[in-house]
Amino acid sequence: MTAQKKRVLSGIQPSGTLHIGNYFGMMRPSVALQAENECYYFIANYHAMTSCPDAQGLRDRTHEVAVDFLACGLDPEKTTFFRQTDVPQILQLTWILSCLTPVGLLERCHSYKDKVAKGIPASHGLFSYPVLMAADILVYGSHLVPVGKDQKQHLEVTRDLAIRFNNQYGELLVVPDPIIQEDVAVVPGLDGQKMSKSYDNTIELYGEGKKTRKRFMKIVTDSTPMEDPKDPDTCNVFALYKLFATPEELAEMRELYTAGGMGYGHAKQALFEKYTDYFAEMRERRKELLEKPQMVEDVLQAGATRARETAESIMVPVREAVGLA
Ligand code: TRP
Repeated sequence: MTAQKKRVLSGIQPSGTLHIGNYFGMMRPSVALQAENECYYFIANYHAMTSCPDAQGLRDRTHEVAVDFLACGLDPEKTTFFRQTDVPQILQLTWILSCLTPVGLLERCHSYKDKVAKGIPASHGLFSYPVLMAADILVYGSHLVPVGKDQKQHLEVTRDLAIRFNNQYGELLVVPDPIIQEDVAVVPGLDGQKMSKSYDNTIELYGEGKKTRKRFMKIVTDSTPMEDPKDPDTCNVFALYKLFATPEELAEMRELYTAGGMGYGHAKQALFEKYTDYFAEMRERRKELLEKPQMVEDVLQAGATRARETAESIMVPVREAVGLA
């Protein structure tokens, strides 16, 4: 690693079809970080097991997420891209950290409580999810972790565990900093709430054609009549249009809203067309990658080899320090 390069790590769970909220919130910023940093991005399939008991579903989605991430610009030449389960050191460090983790620390985690409230079984795996996530991060000596706001507390647990380890056994683990996209416009869903799988208000990342167009037509708007002026700043369609349009296109759309005489159907159609164009190249690339499962597998294997090497270089002194070697 060269002196100025930071090691960046992030993970994505293969727990459903990716949507444009995932893209603007996590995938696009991660892709942008590749240029200047040493990036490690992985598919958190162990984590997905905490909420997905269906074996074939998990296998299929793990492959799909790999394809989707590669299609949107993850460059496996620059970035180490792999599956969590291909790095056995993660579970070794998970256990070591578990023995340093006060139960009360995990009991305070909102994400656990929220998931249980939503009906996910309160398993030990779900409870210790943050310890596994800490191991994911600490096992590569990561400096920076780009995540959504919802993961902030998990990053605090990670830092806490790294500090506890270092106090007890010596300064071996890097205490990482989160990169949290506070300012990123929250991507609204069809109903105006945050776009999220659990609200069933998402727009697929790589959708196209009639079925996807129908989703756009369902975006909730107010009932201002066609001929009246409309307020772009309170409109979900306009908020989504902002993600795709150039400043000039945005100014034109604002004009149409405020002038009156434009129906929301027109704005939705314009948004749908922008979306279709924006992801066109990525959609094509995705189709090509879906035809080449072996190539995707080779990328993940090559990434895993590099990831294991880095993880092992951290684990050798860790095992020594804790008395397991
Ligand atoms: N918990 C993260 C999420 O649901 C996924 C994840 C697992 C992760 N391990 C990680 C993210 C390590 C960053 C770093 O979004």
